[in-house]
Amino acid sequence: MSDIVILPVPPFSLLCNAAFALRREVFVWEQKVPEAEEHDNYDMTATHFVAIGEGEVVGTLRLIDLPEHVKIGRVAVRQAFRGRGIARRMIAAAMAHARQAGRDRFYLTAQSDKLGFYESLGFVAFGPEFIDGGMPHRAMRDYDRDSAVLVD
Ligand SMILES: CC(C)(COP(=O)(O)OP(=O)(O)OC[C@H]1O[C@@H](n2cnc3c(N)ncnc32)[C@H](O)[C@@H]1OP(=O)(O)O)[C@@H](O)C(=O)NCCC(=O)NCCS
Repeated sequence: MSDIVILPVPPFSLLCNAAFALRREVFVWEQKVPEAEEHDNYDMTATHFVAIGEGEVVGTLRLIDLPEHVKIGRVAVRQAFRGRGIARRMIAAAMAHARQAGRDRFYLTAQSDKLGFYESLGFVAFGPEFIDGGMPHRAMRDYDRDSAVLVD
């Protein structure tokens, strides 16, 4: 869809605050993640991305720069805007942004029912399932794919 704009925004800017509100809407109210777990200190230093559609923030994610890889997290799209490729486009835009800064190893922890979505973006699951925010998750990465499968 051509009417969606995706861009990085500074932490605690107006657009980023709208993204934080969307995260509360999706993770706390919809998915019942405990509110105390939704924000963390990484929000101060992460690179936040927003998707803007129809004049409002309808999608968001954040990138956390870690020594071993870049962690993609807090991927959320407003319910009424799902199924239109917004998450896929946000992830592609965020990875391209990180690659421009010389980072090309990506990691995330996926809700177990979303593994297929991230596999379609080139990620493989590794390690055991664990509970985060009350939901089962798996770690996934898009590098060292063969060894990721081996420790599965
Ligand atoms: C998961 C989420 C971010 C996907 O956003 P979206 O904009 O609807 O996703 P897209 O339209 O880009 O879909 C990308 C692909 O994933 C698939 N997909 C979307 N939601 C899915 C889900 N819940 N489970 C499995 N696959 C899903 C789509 O069918 C699509 O596949 P296709 O490209 O082959 O057609 C959105 O459903 C959401 O915000 N969910 C609540 C928060 C959440 O679960 N975040 C992810 C935590 S790991």
